[in-house]
Amino acid sequence: MSHATATPLKARRSGGLTGTFQVPGDKSISHRALMLGAVSIGETTISGLLESADIHGTARAMAAFGARVERHQDGRWTVNGLGTGGLLEPKMPIDFGNAGTGVRLAIGLASTCPIQAKFTGDQSLCKRPMGRIMEPLSQFGTRFEATEGDRLPLQMTGAVSPIPQEYTLPVASAQVKSALLLGALNVPGRTTVVEPVPTRDHTERMLSAFGADLEITHTERGREVSLNGPAELTGQAVTVPADPSSAAFPMVAALITEGSDLTLPNMMMNETRTGLLGVLQSMGGDIEVLNQRETGGETLADIRVRSSRLKGVVVDPEVAPSMIDEYPILAVAAACAEGSTEMRGLEELRVKESDRLAAIVAGLENNGVKVQWGDDWMIVEGSASGRPTGGGTVATHMDHRIAMAFLVLGLVSEKPVTVDDGGMIATSFPDFVELMKAAGAPIEAAETLS
Ligand code: S3P
Repeated sequence: MSHATATPLKARRSGGLTGTFQVPGDKSISHRALMLGAVSIGETTISGLLESADIHGTARAMAAFGARVERHQDGRWTVNGLGTGGLLEPKMPIDFGNAGTGVRLAIGLASTCPIQAKFTGDQSLCKRPMGRIMEPLSQFGTRFEATEGDRLPLQMTGAVSPIPQEYTLPVASAQVKSALLLGALNVPGRTTVVEPVPTRDHTERMLSAFGADLEITHTERGREVSLNGPAELTGQAVTVPADPSSAAFPMVAALITEGSDLTLPNMMMNETRTGLLGVLQSMGGDIEVLNQRETGGETLADIRVRSSRLKGVVVDPEVAPSMIDEYPILAVAAACAEGSTEMRGLEELRVKESDRLAAIVAGLENNGVKVQWGDDWMIVEGSASGRPTGGGTVATHMDHRIAMAFLVLGLVSEKPVTVDDGGMIATSFPDFVELMKAAGAPIEAAETLS
C-alpha cells in the first residue's frame, strides 16, 4: 500500500459528546479469527469483524495462501480453511500495508509450512523491526532473507521438517508470542513460549476455542504457554467484541469535554487490554462498567463515560503491556488534567506505526503542552484550566493513533488542532470521524495546514 495524498483534518472546541457510540470490532481478534479460520478444517463464521484497511490486508493475505475468504451481504465473513500446514505458496508478494500485527502473525503462521513467500508493507511498516520474529522462527528451521536491518520486504522459506522449541520473550510482545504459537501449530512436539511479563492473550484463548492442545502455567520464569503440535483446528463461530483500543478515543473525548455523557456498548473487558480504563478511573474519570457478561470466551461490558475533571497520576510501568496502544490518548488526557502525569516503561512505543514517544511529545509541544521526556519515559504537565492552548499542526507519521489522539485534543483546546494526515485512521477505525461527529464533535477536513 503506498501513501499518496494526505488528508489533513482539523478538530475545534466541542460541546458535550452524548448518545450511544458503536465502537467497531477488535483489531487483534479480527486478525486472529481470519488466520485461525485459514488453517482450520471446515468453515469459520465471523460476526462483527473489523472492516478496516489492516484487516482487509489480512483477509487478502489468507486468500493468497489459498483459503476461501468471503464477505456476505449480512456483514458476516466466512473462511473455509486448509488445515494446519495446508497454506499454499502465494503467487505474488503479500503486502500488509501498515499492519504490524497482520504481517508478523502471518509470517508465524506460514513459517512451518513447506512454502516460500515474500512479505512487504508500506513505508511505516518497512521501518519496523522484524528480527524479533525472525530470530525465534529460525529455530523452527525457517529461513529468511530480509532487507538490511531485518526489515521488510523479506523472503521466507518455511521449515520442511520443523522442530519444536522453548523460547523466552526478550520483549513484552503479543505479536512475537503469537507468531511463535501460530508457527507451532504445524510442528510435531511441544513448543513453549515463556513471557516474563504477560501480554494480550487473544491468541491463546482463540487457539483453545478452535481445538488446539494448549497448556498455560505460571512459574518463577513467568507465564508459560505450551502448544502440543501438530494441532488439528476446527472452524468456529466467532463474534468480535468492540475494540477497547478504538473505544479509548471517544472515551477520553467524553471525559475531557464539558457536558458529555456517552455510552459505548459491547466493549471487550479482557484484562490484558483494559489498563487505560483503570488509569483513567484513578485520574478521577467518571467511567461506569455496566452489564458485565461472558460471551465467546471474552468478558464484555457497556461503558458509560461522563465529563470529569482529571488529576495527574504516576502510571505504574507494569500496566504498560495492557495499554500499550493507549499512550497517545492517555497523553492527551494528561494534558487536560490538573497536575502532571508520569509515564515510564515506554520503550516499545518507539517501534510502533511511528516512534510514538517522539510523535506524542512533538504534537503536545506544538499545542502548548509542556513535556519532559527521555528514551522510555515522559512527564506531561497538565493545564490548570483543563484547556491546552492548541493551534498547532501535528505530524502523524503514518500513525492512525497519533491522528485520532490529537483530533481529540482539538476538542478541548483553546484553538483548533490540525493533523497533517487523517488518512491512516482507516487502518483501524474507518468511521472514526463520522461517529465522532454524530456524537457532537466538530471534526472537519482542513483545507490548509496552519
Ligand atoms: C497486538 C499487539 C501489540 C499492539 C498491536 C496489536 C496484537 O503489539 O501494539 O496494536 O494484536 O498482538 P506488540 O505485541 O508488538 O506489543
